[in-house]
Amino acid sequence: MSELVDQIGYHDEKYYIEDNPVISDYEYDQLVKELQELEKNHPDLILPESPTQRVSGGPVEEFPQVEHKVAMLSLANSYSEEELREWDARVRRLLGDEKVEYVIEPKIDGLGIAIVYENGLLVRGATRGDGKVGEDVTQNIKTIKSIPLRLNPKGTLRTAEVRGEIYMPVEGLRELNRKREEAGEQLFANPRNAAAGSLRQLDPKVTASRPLDAILYTLSWMETGNQMPPTQDKCLEVMKESGLRTNPNNRKVDSIEKVLEHIDSWRTKREELEYQVDGVVIKVDSIEQQQRLGFTSKDPRWAIAYKYPPQQMTTKLLDIAVHVGRTGALTPVAVLEPVRIGGVTVSSATLHNEDEVTRKGLRIGDYVLVERAGEVIPQVVKPIVERRTGEEREFKMPVACPVCGSKATRDEGEAVRRCVNASCPAQVKERLIHWCSREAMDCEGVGPSLVNQLVDKGLVKDVGDLYSLEQQDLMGLERIAEKTSSNIIEAIKGSVNADFDRVLFALGIRHVGRTTAQVLAEKMESMDRIHRATVEELSRTEGVGQIVVKAIREFMDNPQNLQLIGKLRKAGLKMEMGKRSTGGPLEGKVFIFTGELESMPRTEAQALVMSLGGRITDSVSKSVDYVVVGSEPGSKYEKARSMDKTIMNERQFLELVKKK
Ligand code: IVH
Repeated sequence: MSELVDQIGYHDEKYYIEDNPVISDYEYDQLVKELQELEKNHPDLILPESPTQRVSGGPVEEFPQVEHKVAMLSLANSYSEEELREWDARVRRLLGDEKVEYVIEPKIDGLGIAIVYENGLLVRGATRGDGKVGEDVTQNIKTIKSIPLRLNPKGTLRTAEVRGEIYMPVEGLRELNRKREEAGEQLFANPRNAAAGSLRQLDPKVTASRPLDAILYTLSWMETGNQMPPTQDKCLEVMKESGLRTNPNNRKVDSIEKVLEHIDSWRTKREELEYQVDGVVIKVDSIEQQQRLGFTSKDPRWAIAYKYPPQQMTTKLLDIAVHVGRTGALTPVAVLEPVRIGGVTVSSATLHNEDEVTRKGLRIGDYVLVERAGEVIPQVVKPIVERRTGEEREFKMPVACPVCGSKATRDEGEAVRRCVNASCPAQVKERLIHWCSREAMDCEGVGPSLVNQLVDKGLVKDVGDLYSLEQQDLMGLERIAEKTSSNIIEAIKGSVNADFDRVLFALGIRHVGRTTAQVLAEKMESMDRIHRATVEELSRTEGVGQIVVKAIREFMDNPQNLQLIGKLRKAGLKMEMGKRSTGGPLEGKVFIFTGELESMPRTEAQALVMSLGGRITDSVSKSVDYVVVGSEPGSKYEKARSMDKTIMNERQFLELVKKK
C-alpha cells in the first residue's frame, strides 16, 4: 500500500506539478483502483497521505481557528512606475546602497493560504483570516490535487510552513458560472470570490467539486535547526524540489529598470494565462536583506505589489432591461452603448438585483464606468454623477413580471424578486432551453431561436410537449428546413434514453445542478422515492444541504410539476436508475453510441441493446463496456479512446448482437 501511495504521489507530481505525465490516465486509474481494493480489505492500514484520503472528513459545523506560525501580512500596493521607483530607492537607501536583486512573481487573484507539513506530511491548511489567526480549512485544501499530501522525499523540506494562492482558473470559473446560472444560483463576480466561496465550504465535497488550483510562493517557516535558504529564488527552488507547485513565470532581475520592463511585457501576456493576474509582486531576493528591511506596522518593506490598472471605460447606460430566468428570477441588466474594453465589445452587464442598482445609485441615461476584469463578466462600477444633465430617470424594479404580467414577489431575506407564474412564457422558454441543453437531455438543434417560436406559436407549453411534436409541426417555422426538422425530432425522441440523473437535472429544480442530480439519483434511485422522501430522508444524502432539500420539496409538492413528471413518464423518459439485472444475453453490459450508423437509426440500435438486457449511457465513464462508433463521431469517441475502452465499429457491433 505504501508503495502504491508513493507511485501515485509520483504520478500526481508529474501530472499536476510538472504538466508532464509519464503514464496514461488508464494506467493511473489502475494504480488507484488497486490501492482502493487493498484499503477496503485493510481499513486499519490506510495511510493518512493516501490519495484516497483527499476527501475524507465529513462536513464541519464551523472552521476551527488556528494561529499562524508567523504573522500573515499583506502587501503595500503601487499603481505607477513612479511609486515603484520610490520603493526601490527606499530599499536601496535602507540597505546602504548594497547590490539588490529582485524576484518578480505574477500576482494571482485568489486567496492566500498557509500550509504546514510535518515530517513531510500535510497536517494543516489555514486561510489568512486577520493575519494572526486564520480558519482551519485542512479538509478542503486536501481536495486540491496540485497540493501534495506528502512532500517529495527527494527534496529537503520536511517540517515547514509554505504559503501561496488558491485560485480558480478562468475557464473553470466560466464553466462554474454557467452551471450556476443553469441551477438558478447567484454568479461569482470574479475569480477571487469564487476561490474564497469554494474553499470556505463546510462540506469538503463541495470544495472537491470546484475547479480549484494552487501555486505556492513563500517558504514562511522551517523547523529550528534547518537552514533557511539564503534567497527567495532558492526558497522557490527548494519548494519545487519538494514537489510543491511554484510559478514557472517567476523571474529574478538585478535592477528596477528590468522590473519595469518585465511589468510592461506582461501587461498583455498575462491575459493568456489560465488564471487571472491582477498585477505582479516584487520581492527583495536576499532573505538576509529582507530581515534587515523588516516591516512597517502592516506590510513588509521588502516587497510590494504593482497592480495593473483595471480595464475600464465610460459609456452610456441606455436602459435597464429586466430578464426573467428559468426560476422566475427577475434580473436587471444594463443595456450599454457598445464600448470596447480590452479588445472585447461590451454592450450589456448584469446588475445582479434591485438592491445593487440602488446601492450603486444608477439612473437610466447615466454615463457609467464599466470594468472588465480579465475574462470575467463586465461590471458597472458607478455612475459619473458629474455628467448628469437632469434628463436621467430613476429605475424602478417592476412588481409585475415584464413578460406575463403576473405578480413578481420578493421573499423576506431574499435579494431576488420572482415571477410567481410557473407557466410564464419567459420561464417556460428558459426551462425548455435548459432541458434541451447538452448537459441535460442534449437535444441537438433545439436552441433559443426554435424554443422562442415553439412557445410563441403555442406548440409547446412545457418540456413534456416536446415529446408529442411531429415533423410537420416544425415545417412552418423560420430557419427550419425539412432535413433539420427530421433531425430535431430524432434528437428529441432519442433523448428518452438519457439516464435518470440527467432527467432529474434537466427538470431544472432550483439549486439542483448536475452533480447534485447525480448524487440524488444514485442515492434515491427513483423519482417516486424522491417524491415521497421526507425532508429528513433527503437531508441524509451527503452533499445535499438544507437549501437544496427545501427546493426539492417545494418542487415535488407543486401539483403542476407532478403532472409534468407524469407526462414525461408516459413519453418514456427514465424515472429511475437503470435496472442492473434483466436476464438478457447482454445483461449488465453498458453501451455508448457516438456518430451516425448506416444500417439503422441510433435509437433503434440502442433499443436493440436494451432488448438484449444491455444498458445505454450517454457519458463515457468507468462503467462503460462498449463504445460503438459510427461516422463522424463526437467528443465521446476521443474521451473513450483516452480511457482505453473497447471500441467497435458498426460492423463489429452488428456481429456482436447477431451472435446473441
Ligand atoms: S507575497 C508578505 N506573492 O496578494 C508577503 N502574495 O495583496 C505577502 N498574492 O495576501 C504575500 N500572488 O494572497 C505574495 N506571488 C505572490 C502573490 C501574493 C498573490 C496575494 C496574497 C496576498 C495579497 C497581497
